[in-house]
Amino acid sequence: MGFPVHRLRRLRRSEGVRRLVRETHVAVGDLIAPLFLCDGENQRQEIHAMPGVFRYSIDAAVEEARLLHRLRVPALLLFGVPPAERKDPTGKEAWASEGLVQCALRAIREAVPGMVLIADTCFCEYTDHGHCGVLNAGKEVMNDRTLENLAQTAVSQARAGADIVAPSAMMDGQVSAIRRMLDTQGFEYVAIMSYAAKYASAFYGPFREAAHSTPAFGDRRQYQMDYHNRREAVREVQLDEEEGADILMVKPALAYMDVIRAAREAANTPIAAYNVSGEYAMVKAAARNGWIDEKAAALEIVTGFKRAGADLVITYWAKDLARWLEPEPVETVKPDAGSAKPSGQTGLGRRKTARVEGEKH
Ligand code: PBG
Repeated sequence: MGFPVHRLRRLRRSEGVRRLVRETHVAVGDLIAPLFLCDGENQRQEIHAMPGVFRYSIDAAVEEARLLHRLRVPALLLFGVPPAERKDPTGKEAWASEGLVQCALRAIREAVPGMVLIADTCFCEYTDHGHCGVLNAGKEVMNDRTLENLAQTAVSQARAGADIVAPSAMMDGQVSAIRRMLDTQGFEYVAIMSYAAKYASAFYGPFREAAHSTPAFGDRRQYQMDYHNRREAVREVQLDEEEGADILMVKPALAYMDVIRAAREAANTPIAAYNVSGEYAMVKAAARNGWIDEKAAALEIVTGFKRAGADLVITYWAKDLARWLEPEPVETVKPDAGSAKPSGQTGLGRRKTARVEGEKH
């Protein structure tokens, strides 16, 4: 039976009704904030193409972690950006016990014990050629040789206090190589969030400025996925789940909503979506020109990831979202035409209720 019995507009008439029937929610508890680390003290270097995103020296990163923790963002994803003179063909800075990520892990673990610490496990920020592994004479990234370094890097991150390691090199077998090494070294409770379906993408552009990780020659299409393919992503996801990944990630996210959905259906692990640098930069640039409402667009995008099936979202908007998602007192929400204005409640009382609702997340 259709119209006039069914009128879907009935459940859209007021903010209250719309909230009641809402199917998807973004909670601050779903968010992971990426954090870029650099040398020095008291450094906050803004990334040109990512307004509001900075490279932090470790002391400044600790302060940022404190703020994010106060805002109830549960997790950080750490990237080290060492200067050129500490880069080499293998990227050995990635597993140095005094490397940027390792030092930051120890410092943040100590200062903000409740924060979940995730370390990006890769080499492109650490190799002098900018590729995600060790090259052979033909300048191809050697898979199995790189696995040893990934496992070694994961162990050094676990030793420094990482709760989760996140291999992003797209080497075959990276999850099992890391799992095996972590287990033999006594880190069987350190989890793996694998960049399972990571595509070679134009949307990483601003990240490469942030992380100084642009390949010196060629591109990453020999190891990252071809964006024409979805079934292949299902294979990646299934293999990583079998290899022991605890969380599976799809990256990028905005042009890959179907892949997020496919991953959700193919696996039973939590699924993470990486809302990458280019996706953030596009909205920022448009907002700066007055062409788009940043807050509304960001909320719509992140809600879209969740509707597509993501449980977790890695996003440069984490801090902003934590503020935007803080429930507003009801008085400030304008009732739509036709709905009754809530009465008899003091601002304080409503505020309290709103806060308690927020705590559930
Ligand atoms: C590689 C890595 C990249 C990103 C995260 N990890 C870039 C790449 O593969 O070139 C991109 C993240 C972003 O664009 O926000 N270790």
